[in-house]
Amino acid sequence: MNSDPYAWIEKSLDTIRRAHWYRSPQKIDNCPGPTVQLAGRKLINFASNDYLGLAGDQRLIQAAIAATQEFGTGATGSRLIGGHRDLHRQLEKAIAKLKQTEDALVFSSGYLANLGAIASLVGKRDLILSDQYNHSSLKNGAVLSGATVLDYSHCNLNNLTAKLEQNRTNYRKCLIVTDSVFSMDGDLCRLPQLLGLARQFNCMVLVDEAHATGVFGASGAGCVEHFGCTGEALIQVALSAKLWEVWEVTLPALLL
Ligand SMILES: Cc1ncc(COP(=O)(O)O)c(C=O)c1O
Repeated sequence: MNSDPYAWIEKSLDTIRRAHWYRSPQKIDNCPGPTVQLAGRKLINFASNDYLGLAGDQRLIQAAIAATQEFGTGATGSRLIGGHRDLHRQLEKAIAKLKQTEDALVFSSGYLANLGAIASLVGKRDLILSDQYNHSSLKNGAVLSGATVLDYSHCNLNNLTAKLEQNRTNYRKCLIVTDSVFSMDGDLCRLPQLLGLARQFNCMVLVDEAHATGVFGASGAGCVEHFGCTGEALIQVALSAKLWEVWEVTLPALLL
């Protein structure tokens, strides 16, 4: 055997290019803001998740500089083994206060938060009911958990109810998983109704507020607040991933 085990890569890339599906990152030449400087052109950025403009906010930039000067640029290892700074705890308390939840746990990205949260809530003998348009991190978290995963039609409560009626009793725990603001279409899940079904069928609910935190609700706490569901039993993946990258370093520094 002298074939090249990597030869398939070029072939696949060729196919992707011929189908005009090839994508690669574009170089942006300016600081974060409503417009981007791309290949010498100034363009409005409709692809950003920096909804509140925090990534370029001078107060946060200065706080980030101060925080890294005092605490360094990294945690140096896993938090459970190497410990954490009071700064991390302060951030978690600030998030829990904003969300009016019992507590909060910080991850280094939204993707990891979904993987970690879902895999710690359900396992092999359990069931996940997942909106078909959920973000890929929710879908991959569901696979990683080892639970049986059933997709229900997008925002379709009748379809979800039918799947619960057919399957719920065959499993130990059940988790209903949904984006609150769907990342591709921008529509909202029907949270009060989902919570009603969860009560009826003894299920947990996990809602991904990545595109809702800071945007929806009177205090910016997200869709949970917008729908009047604050204080209900549910798990929220809270901060916008993109807000988060800024807040991770800077919010604690502002609190100091
Ligand atoms: C709904 C949703 N959840 C999770 C993520 C993942 O967040 P991150 O990019 O911080 O890993 C994204 C990414 O934008 C998202 O749109």
